[in-house]
Amino acid sequence: MPLSIHMSHCKASAPAKVILFGEHFVVYGSPAILAAINKHISVDARTTIHDEDKIVIRSDIGVAGEYWHNGEFFNALEGGKKAKAVLDPLYRAIRQVLSKRNNKNIGIEVDISSKVPPGIGLGSSAASCVATVAAVYSLFQKNPSRQKVCEFAIESERLIHKRTSGADCYVSTFGGLMQYYSKSRRFKNIETKGSLSLVVANTGIKHSTSDLVAGVKRFKDTNKILFESLAKQASDICLQACTAIESGKYDKVGELMNENQILLQQIGISHHKVHDIIEICSKAGAMGAKITGAGGGGAVIALAASKQESTKIASHVKAAGYQSFEVKIDYDGLSF
Ligand code: PMV
Repeated sequence: MPLSIHMSHCKASAPAKVILFGEHFVVYGSPAILAAINKHISVDARTTIHDEDKIVIRSDIGVAGEYWHNGEFFNALEGGKKAKAVLDPLYRAIRQVLSKRNNKNIGIEVDISSKVPPGIGLGSSAASCVATVAAVYSLFQKNPSRQKVCEFAIESERLIHKRTSGADCYVSTFGGLMQYYSKSRRFKNIETKGSLSLVVANTGIKHSTSDLVAGVKRFKDTNKILFESLAKQASDICLQACTAIESGKYDKVGELMNENQILLQQIGISHHKVHDIIEICSKAGAMGAKITGAGGGGAVIALAASKQESTKIASHVKAAGYQSFEVKIDYDGLSF
């Protein structure tokens, strides 16, 4: 293999996220509340002058591959068949940046390092896309606009699931705690009174967001009136939650999380392991707990009354054999 000569080198890092309220319903226009969390995906991008047009992407989640001839050819370097499915959106993200910059024929190598368990609803694919776009963009332009980075990332995410609300990419780019409106693609930062003590618990069951979103669409199409009513309730819960967070009424926030969980059960995206974890969290003193993200297993988010309580909840969940960790809100978002 010819030695590659690196011309330029840029790094970017983007946070994962949790959805506190409104997943799935956000796809159909209801608001959602999301928080960026202190688990990051870092991307290291380099231009190379060997094999023009070759794009190599490696991720420490065990997939790597190379694309050439405008993506016509792909070779998995690690991860077999799974590699292409995971890497295609990232490849598409890179190509978008290159085409906009008139640098179509340049070699790029990207290394992704992740602290986020994939496929459980913590937004690892969105954070990877955001950080990849930012790192590759920065190779050609100093400080690209976050808005532009976010738009490219959303476009690339559409490859994996075409109905994406864009919420994950927004929170990963801009950070913080926000209320997101998918219709207008706008968000509003939510000011917290005190800090939210949050615990993530992993059922260990990975999901495909697009399959689950497709399942909810089928549910919606066959239960139109019921779905409208559930979506209205989801919107109301979200708006009440925003007020409760802003006024520091966390017991109310917890109650609303439990109510939101019932709606998610009704649209068929919960799982018996989710129920098991929610019960453990609630017995350990959680004020509320629910699925976070697309569900079908995936991750649960629980709200605790204090840092001490969240440590206790996480240890109870771990004692029952599930992965669990406390998370903090990341207010910085994308850094590059
Ligand atoms: O991919 P996940 O598991 O983080 O879930 C995304 C959230 C959904 O509301 C289910 C889909 C969307 O595009 O908002």
